[in-house]
Amino acid sequence: MRSFLSLILLTFLGVVLSQGNDARPPLGFVQSKNGKFVLNGKLFNFVGANSYWLPLLTSKEDVHTTFKEMQGAGVKVLRTWGFNAINGSELAGALESGLTYYQLWNSTDWTLNEGPQGLKRLDYVVDTAGQYGIKIILAFTNNWVGYGGAELYINWIAGAGKTHDVFYSDPAITKSYQKYVKAIVNRYKNSPNIFAWELMNEARCLGDLPSGPNCAPASGTPLLSKWYKAQSDYVRSLDPNHMITTGGEGHFFWQGENAGYYYDGNFVSDYNFNGQAGEDFDADLALENIDFATYHIYPEYWYSNLNHPGTNWTVKDWGLKWIQAHADAAAKAGKPVILEEFGVSGLQNKTDIYPAWVDLALKTKHAGILPWQFGQLGLKESGGNRVIKYADLLVDGASPNDGLAIYRNQTTVWNIFKNAAKVQEGRSK
Ligand SMILES: *[C@@H]1O[C@H](CO)[C@@H](O)[C@H](O)[C@H]1NC(C)=O
Ligand SMILES: *[C@@H]1O[C@H](CO)[C@@H](O)[C@H](O)[C@H]1NC(C)=O
Ligand SMILES: *[C@@H]1O[C@H](CO)[C@@H](O)[C@H](O)[C@H]1NC(C)=O
Ligand SMILES: *[C@@H]1O[C@H](CO)[C@@H](O)[C@H](O)[C@H]1NC(C)=O
Ligand SMILES: *[C@@H]1O[C@H](CO)[C@@H](O)[C@H](O)[C@H]1NC(C)=O
Repeated sequence: MRSFLSLILLTFLGVVLSQGNDARPPLGFVQSKNGKFVLNGKLFNFVGANSYWLPLLTSKEDVHTTFKEMQGAGVKVLRTWGFNAINGSELAGALESGLTYYQLWNSTDWTLNEGPQGLKRLDYVVDTAGQYGIKIILAFTNNWVGYGGAELYINWIAGAGKTHDVFYSDPAITKSYQKYVKAIVNRYKNSPNIFAWELMNEARCLGDLPSGPNCAPASGTPLLSKWYKAQSDYVRSLDPNHMITTGGEGHFFWQGENAGYYYDGNFVSDYNFNGQAGEDFDADLALENIDFATYHIYPEYWYSNLNHPGTNWTVKDWGLKWIQAHADAAAKAGKPVILEEFGVSGLQNKTDIYPAWVDLALKTKHAGILPWQFGQLGLKESGGNRVIKYADLLVDGASPNDGLAIYRNQTTVWNIFKNAAKVQEGRSK
């Protein structure tokens, strides 16, 4: 009798517990399950857009125009920056030009700008995305100086003359980063318009400051992997429901012949494969609170010797190899992978190369494909002409162009992604 009762009790508990473990996320939240994204019980595969400049626009109408264009192109996920930090010395200029800023640094601490020129602009983007059926990947900081990334934390907290990797090791910097992460996560953690949190854009041991000696997995100290673990665990402690990813470029830590390539008959060890950059794609993806993989492709900017006599690789082939390698690694880890950024210069190069890359990404079941970067025409603010920051300009209504923007008028390239979006939609059932 007693044992019968406890059996019932145990069975009951077991059901409750297994329901607890299997708990569905709130409606409209995307989940990573058995190597796939799942949304409201259906698979979710997508083509996405990169647009860091969207929260930098000052006109709400232009935000709508852009989302509408994305929706028309079949875009389901927008990746943008959840950071925009300025130095105290930039404040006067920012107020004059209307520059969006969320963090203002003027001492070892920063102040949060929740005002109309600050997080209210990001709020507007996050809220509006949902009206167009789009979800957002939000990155917490940048490896590079653009829009105020790691370098501001390093310079203000650790002081001048430090190496870039102190960002991952200095406890005061981690505390400051987490304070910002907490502000952002708490602001949007109930929103189904967030697709995932991203710990950093393109984390590396070096940034615009040089690397220190004790960062790379190749040196026996996988500082970046440790940081990914600590920060993904921290974000999970704040938000049990949204997915978390690294935002990394996808560098491997491989050994021997796999750690490089041949050039003119000589073996060249390569930071994309030998662990020198800081990431260890396979180990990082295995972390409990990293829900899916990201990687980027910029062979023209990473290698000077592709497409030349003496090398075994063209830009196109190098990208194909990189795509296959990440698809294989993600399949092994049992987690989804997204091709999160990629670009080649020139319209003809894009026309020649993107179809092959996109085809292979589709064939190898990438859950997401996000070219760098989305281009928008017909923006109206400031008469369509405005300096945002750095070389980022609106020109005759066109969004900033770093040579990689894809606008609707570039029909052949535009349609590569529009068609891929249809394929992904067909695989979302
Ligand atoms: C930054 O700090 C300096 C020195 O303490 C001060 O003079 C200046 O007003 C501050 N600027 C801002 C924007 O807080
Ligand atoms: C603040 O910005 C100014 C101007 O860009 C730069 O010279 C200075 O080094 C920055 N300070 C810090 C601590 O990053
Ligand atoms: C191409 O790679 C092979 C090894 O896979 C190497 O033996 C050969 O020398 C390479 N070719 C050139 C031109 O570097
Ligand atoms: C196309 O790619 C080649 C090789 O990577 C490069 O040399 C060339 O400048 C690119 N074309 C344009 C228009 O950028
Ligand atoms: C498309 O629009 C962009 C941005 O205004 C412009 O630079 C380009 O010349 C236009 N035409 C084509 C065919 O790319």
